[in-house]
Amino acid sequence: MAAPDGRWPLSSEARAALLRHSSCVLGQRPPDLAISAATLPGDPLARMEANQPSPIVEVVALRKVFGQTVAVDEVSFAVAPGRSLAIVGESGSGKTTVAKILAGLETATSGSVSVCGRDRTRGARGTRERRRRGRELQIVFQDPYSSLDPRQRVGDCIAEVMQLHQGLSKRECESRAIELGELAGLDPANMRAYPVGLSGGQRQRVAIARALAAEPDVIVMDEAVASLDVSVQAQVLNTIADVRERTGATILFISHDLAVVRQVTDDIIVMQAGRIVESGITAEVLDAPQHPYTQLLRSSVPTPEWKPSAVSGTPTLAP
Ligand SMILES: Nc1ncnc2c1ncn2[C@@H]1O[C@H](COP(=O)(O)OP(=O)(O)OP(=O)(O)O)[C@@H](O)[C@H]1O
Ligand SMILES: [Mg+2]
Repeated sequence: MAAPDGRWPLSSEARAALLRHSSCVLGQRPPDLAISAATLPGDPLARMEANQPSPIVEVVALRKVFGQTVAVDEVSFAVAPGRSLAIVGESGSGKTTVAKILAGLETATSGSVSVCGRDRTRGARGTRERRRRGRELQIVFQDPYSSLDPRQRVGDCIAEVMQLHQGLSKRECESRAIELGELAGLDPANMRAYPVGLSGGQRQRVAIARALAAEPDVIVMDEAVASLDVSVQAQVLNTIADVRERTGATILFISHDLAVVRQVTDDIIVMQAGRIVESGITAEVLDAPQHPYTQLLRSSVPTPEWKPSAVSGTPTLAP
């Protein structure tokens, strides 16, 4: 539960871990809203908290071990409501594992995660809690085939989520499902199809529309637009931007595409081998990466400034 002033209390462990990783507390208020640090006691976290809205997503000292593999190693970050956070990093750096733990699809070895001020390190107890968690956070993966029911028409699968989470009538849900499908780039005729009758890109759009149908507080997109062609990708990103504007949703955007990351996220964390190696405002980190790994990551991706002729024969980034 949020405190009476709308802030969620931090546990003492969370305070200590976030203090150690203070650069990962994201989403500063504009300076005019910030309380002057000089008026506050000496505790740096108290000053930080006063300058920040309470996080809607909070990950504290998260660790996940699979056999001999440490997939996630002491990861801590917090996201303020309404912000969008990119999680980038090489393949196998632990991005999906963090997302799955947030969505309750994996359990943490140690550490904690909370969403909307409620701890979800342990599994949901009962249907009510599962349903509430679904309203709080929805996740979309790159290949959603396994999460779509092969026996359910896609229109019904989107409408069902609306009915469950928004309490609308069946009829209202059906017509709104078509609207939402169109926003996600689906043809109304696709609504009557079964998943097997759709292309991979169309199925991806169904998964995105279904996640948006819950109007969740937090949407996690794990390479969710990577397989779409550029025009549909732009349309889907616009739809997400519209939903954000309308509902104030928070986005966690996992992607290898630094150009898209720059376009759609405010803040960024860079992961390597299960750890956060750099974090900050997306544009600042991508413009002037401090960590050698982020520099490498950025220089290996062609961007709009990419100029093949800048160095004799070797494609490189413009200065
Ligand atoms: N269920 C699992 N069982 C065993 N090892 C796993 C499991 N899931 C992930 N791993 C391992 O954990 C590490 C992190 O995997 P993860 O999928 O989180 O990486 P990622 O950053 O999402 O990579 P990619 O960019 O390729 O999607 C990898 O070494 C992976 O092999
Ligand atoms: Mg992944």
